[in-house]
Amino acid sequence: MSEINYDYIVQYIRALHNPPEGLLHDIEVAIANGEETWPIIKPEVADFMRVLLTMQKPKEILEIGTAVAYSAMLMSEHLEEGGHITTIERFPYMLGVARKNIKQAGLEEVIQIIEGDAADILKTLPSEQYDVIFMDCAKGQYINFLPDCIRLLRKGGLLITDNVLHKGTVAKSRYLIDRRQRTTHMRLRDFLWTITHSEELTSSVLPVGDGIALSYKK
Ligand SMILES: C[S@@+](CC[C@H](N)C(=O)[O-])C[C@H]1O[C@@H](n2cnc3c(N)ncnc32)[C@H](O)[C@@H]1O
Repeated sequence: MSEINYDYIVQYIRALHNPPEGLLHDIEVAIANGEETWPIIKPEVADFMRVLLTMQKPKEILEIGTAVAYSAMLMSEHLEEGGHITTIERFPYMLGVARKNIKQAGLEEVIQIIEGDAADILKTLPSEQYDVIFMDCAKGQYINFLPDCIRLLRKGGLLITDNVLHKGTVAKSRYLIDRRQRTTHMRLRDFLWTITHSEELTSSVLPVGDGIALSYKK
């Protein structure tokens, strides 16, 4: 098994992936060749995001978890004219690579990196500001960040959360989960239950990549 779906289905879907151009393509190739181990969204997640963003036409996007800015640069292609992306990252190595990539892509006016822990930064951001929030950071934190994500989204905005099925383990009984993973397992289940039962959100959980949750703010 790879991630959630069977290998042959994932392989087939990935073969349909339309590679992006320029630096985004270079990043994909460097990872595929094993030259880099940067954590970026899976190709099928990238394709799914492109469709969602084309439909949503966001002007302001917030991302939690920049890494090397692959997804931020990909999302920037789907912003409304004059739009911005604010992206949060706490790991100095990633910050260095992300800044270099954003500069090389000429996107310094479009993508703003905020350095630090999202646990501190989210609280400082103004309410109902974002059309899309892409949450792609430490999975055990999703449930803690959710109240701020809901506050920061404007009505009609979309929260997209990646890796919510944690290689399918979320669907298994906690007794089958390695003890070290049980806290993440419990927190992810809490997050998924909360978004699917929230009066403020309409949510759907999809087995795309490592699992994506889509939540529309009513
Ligand atoms: C899966 S990677 C993000 C990938 C990126 N969105 C992409 O697809 O190109 C997750 C990133 O989130 C960062 N991160 C995790 N928890 C964080 C937190 N609490 N605050 C800020 N950054 C965090 C990690 O350092 C890591 O670089």
